[in-house]
Amino acid sequence: MSDKTAEGLKLDAKKSGQRVGLTSDEIIINGGRPLRGRIEVRGAKNLATKAMVAALLGKKKSVLRNVPNISDVRVVAGLLALHGVLITRGKNDEWILDPSNVEVAHAPDIDAHAGSSRIPILFCGPLLHRLGEAFIPDLGGCRIGDRPIDFHLDALREFGAVIEKLPSGISLTAPNGLHGANIELPYPSVGATEQVLLTAVLAKGQTELRNAAIEPEIVDLICILQKMGAIITIEANRVIFIEGVEELGGYNHKAIFDRNEAASWAAAALATKGDIMVGGARQEDMMTFLNAYRKIGGQFEVLDDGIRFWHDGEALKPVIIETDVHPGFMTDWQQPLVVALTQAEGVSTIHETVYENRLGFTSALNKMGAQIVVHEQGLDDGQRRVMRREFEQAAVITGPTPLHGAEVEVPDLRGGFSYLIAALAAEGQSKITNLGIISRGYENFIEKLRKLGADFIFEA
Ligand code: EPU
Repeated sequence: MSDKTAEGLKLDAKKSGQRVGLTSDEIIINGGRPLRGRIEVRGAKNLATKAMVAALLGKKKSVLRNVPNISDVRVVAGLLALHGVLITRGKNDEWILDPSNVEVAHAPDIDAHAGSSRIPILFCGPLLHRLGEAFIPDLGGCRIGDRPIDFHLDALREFGAVIEKLPSGISLTAPNGLHGANIELPYPSVGATEQVLLTAVLAKGQTELRNAAIEPEIVDLICILQKMGAIITIEANRVIFIEGVEELGGYNHKAIFDRNEAASWAAAALATKGDIMVGGARQEDMMTFLNAYRKIGGQFEVLDDGIRFWHDGEALKPVIIETDVHPGFMTDWQQPLVVALTQAEGVSTIHETVYENRLGFTSALNKMGAQIVVHEQGLDDGQRRVMRREFEQAAVITGPTPLHGAEVEVPDLRGGFSYLIAALAAEGQSKITNLGIISRGYENFIEKLRKLGADFIFEA
């Protein structure tokens, strides 16, 4: 792009110290500069929010450490406060949650949180145990498919919950209390597994859950529940066995690191030909990602306090990736990595098997010069390891294609971060709008970009 474009003029204005009139939901990125330096990742969004809900189950205060400063955490804190949980901030990234005065919240107040997150569905079991009733507003979260809650509701019914669907959400009661259940999930859903755990720990009797999700964040949630007094066994073949107890206390826990954020910065290092030390990342929870990174030609070094990721200047290689439940390749890792794959020499394929609509973000990458074709019905290439799912999709990425700047709007959390990476890797300027979605799951990402030497304009 020439300096004569509107964005170029804005950059000139920036150089002379003037504000350029961006909203706090927009960023202009001047791409083509490798990201280099060290950033820290903190507690996982997909654990911290659930750990906060778990505190509701206890009779005593809980202390959660390593809490990330992201908007999903603030949404859950707001909902807990509505239900009488007293939340105070300790030093640094420590949150203290006191559930001694849990109370029924007013439905209109809860309703104000409708659409802002999917976490409220996990309040069902804890609220039924504490109050005998619950109201859950319509859910939000990223627009990446239908994301139904049938597994959650079926499981809750098995525990004895009575569910009424209302226009504004769902209302639950447990006239005879909640009892242990024998449940087999149709798919190892992360959320439904958490739902069962958070309900079974205080249910009367034993619960066997088959076909459970076993993501590291779930194991961390089980550790938290055990600290509170729960009795939970993870058995072979995705079976989790829970012996209900009379009451639970509090916990003091350091949240597991955010492996999705770590993978996103790793992808940024590769796409921008940079070198990023991701402090706090741990090898054991990222092994599948590291294998794919190595196959593409990305370099990494595992250190005691994190993992360093870099591009060594050699050509990148194409790969075939099938997203899957843990220990497979996480669906959340594919969007950031697709940007790096636009620079690989040859044809890569991503089979998205977890969500039915998580490849829409690629159209904006095509606008920036990528060559990506999405197959809405999926693709059978004869080399599959993950079972073919009915509604899966595939993206075929042909590279290398130079990327150029463009104006793009963030569609969802991970897709949005992939646009940041693409803009950082592209020649010229890009404007990214609807930026707020990224703060749902990436802590202080603007500060981190600054630390890594990115060239951008952002006006808070
Ligand atoms: N599903 C159903 N019925 C249900 C529940 C799930 O059909 O009742 C389907 C979903 O539609 C989807 C599949 O099962 O096709 C997997 O969904 P899952 O329940 O495992 O996902 P989730 O709990 O809603 C969490 C993360 C996602 C992450 C997935 C998969 C949170 C808040 N969200 O979602 O994270 O992609 O597990 O690992 O923990 C993100 O961080 O950007 C994100 C979307």
